[in-house]
Amino acid sequence: MKILMASSEVHPFSKTGGLADMVGALSKTLAALGHEVGVLTPLYRGLRERFPAMERVDWALRLPLGGQMIEATLWKLPLGQTETIYFVDQPEFFDRAGLYGEAGDAFADNAERFLFFSKCAAYMACHFPWQADVLHLHDWHTAPTALLVNHHKWREGLRTAPRVCLTLHNVAYQGQFIGNTFGLLNLPWDYFHADGAEFYGGFNFLKAGIVYADLLTTVSPRYAREITLDLGHGMEGVLRKRAAALTGILNGVDYGEWRTEDNPHLPHPFNATNLRGKSRNKLALQKELGLPVEPGTPIFASVTRLAEQKGMDILLPALEEMLAAHEMQFVLLGSGDPAIEQSFRVLAERFPTKVVAQIGYDTRLSHRIEAGSDFFLMPSRYEPCGLNQMYSLRYGAIPIVRRTGGLDDSVVDFNDDPLHANGVKFDELTAPALANAIRKALRIYADKELLNLLRRRGMTADFSWEQSAHEYLSVFQSPTV
Ligand code: ADP
Ligand code: GLC
Repeated sequence: MKILMASSEVHPFSKTGGLADMVGALSKTLAALGHEVGVLTPLYRGLRERFPAMERVDWALRLPLGGQMIEATLWKLPLGQTETIYFVDQPEFFDRAGLYGEAGDAFADNAERFLFFSKCAAYMACHFPWQADVLHLHDWHTAPTALLVNHHKWREGLRTAPRVCLTLHNVAYQGQFIGNTFGLLNLPWDYFHADGAEFYGGFNFLKAGIVYADLLTTVSPRYAREITLDLGHGMEGVLRKRAAALTGILNGVDYGEWRTEDNPHLPHPFNATNLRGKSRNKLALQKELGLPVEPGTPIFASVTRLAEQKGMDILLPALEEMLAAHEMQFVLLGSGDPAIEQSFRVLAERFPTKVVAQIGYDTRLSHRIEAGSDFFLMPSRYEPCGLNQMYSLRYGAIPIVRRTGGLDDSVVDFNDDPLHANGVKFDELTAPALANAIRKALRIYADKELLNLLRRRGMTADFSWEQSAHEYLSVFQSPTV
């Protein structure tokens, strides 16, 4: 099968969150299964310097955006035998310090930037000499491509255009812009209505994708149900209408990257049958972060975007209570909302020998934290899939998660199923409920046999991408509904 993906971020080229990991790993896995895969993504600042093997493609992009004509060039970088990454080079839009904004503010022209990128994706899907069978879009940034391609197909008779699958990684981010923005698509305004691309008078990119894509997926089975019920951020009704086209597929883990042995980020290799290396990583982490080097003190950790979604508002008071009363350490690596960043700095000042708050983004440290910590905290308000809980399972850091979305689909609590338990789950989105879960973790920590049992179970759990990639392939081939 020939599959063209379009995404605003792709690991290892650009990343702000799990979207990049997912697109990077799924495309790689599909290619390894023998499919031809192209991935279209913006040429952000510094990429040509970081990947000098990139070559210019002799195929110009010159597309209208409302009243303007915008030009771009295309670059390509082959990855392996059957995968090629294509980069849209439009310096005015993409040669910037951030992907979506700077200093906490979104760029004012994000509608123009990502509509242009969506147009490039549609144009490539319909006219590039390499003709894809399926166009796989991701999130709001490329969702309008679904409308563009289906317009070419059904109104302009371009029947060779590929089928379009849109994956919803996070329905809270929709790309909602004022109504006039729709004019930038240069499409008839009869698509702009309550059952089309319009949402409360504005142009909603994600809704355009949900309505006009042939196939819809999201990143866990539970989140697929939740977004049609109460976690759809206003899209519940629209998604219910398309429920027959919507499939939940749990993301996988790229175990080539997230490995506990032969990993350049980790000082000590370890595995499920040799946990000594894990203890050494713990001591190395305490030393590196300036915490008291105490092998017997449990380390709780969190590596996360500091956003409302992640439940930091319940984590802070739960930690206050638990740190004051118990022998434990807490390590945060995160960045995002400046107010939340500040709250963690204050927490670290209040408990200088127990808490480290690393504000920033640091892939190397994220591996060392997963490897060195005993428990990994994810108290998300909602979580479409979540990757960190699966990374932490592999790294022997027992996940403590809220029972929502992909967290519920990937972590098993002792009370629910003692024979398969690998973590701790709690239900209510409150600090006391989370504090209770931490207390439960402390009891597990005190029972070394149970601790090592859960740890080994997590470390041997298999969330590799092959299974999920096969599920995507069967969606790509399923009948349109
Ligand atoms: P989301 O995409 O909602 O942020 P996921 O759990 O799916 O959540 O993915 C988050 C990804 O981003 C993981 O690969 C995680 O390690 C990484 N990440 C998040 N914050 C940081 C950070 N401050 N430093 C390094 N990596 C981070
Ligand atoms: C989004 C979601 C996260 C998911 C990731 C990759 O960022 O918030 O839960 O794991 O996409 O699909």
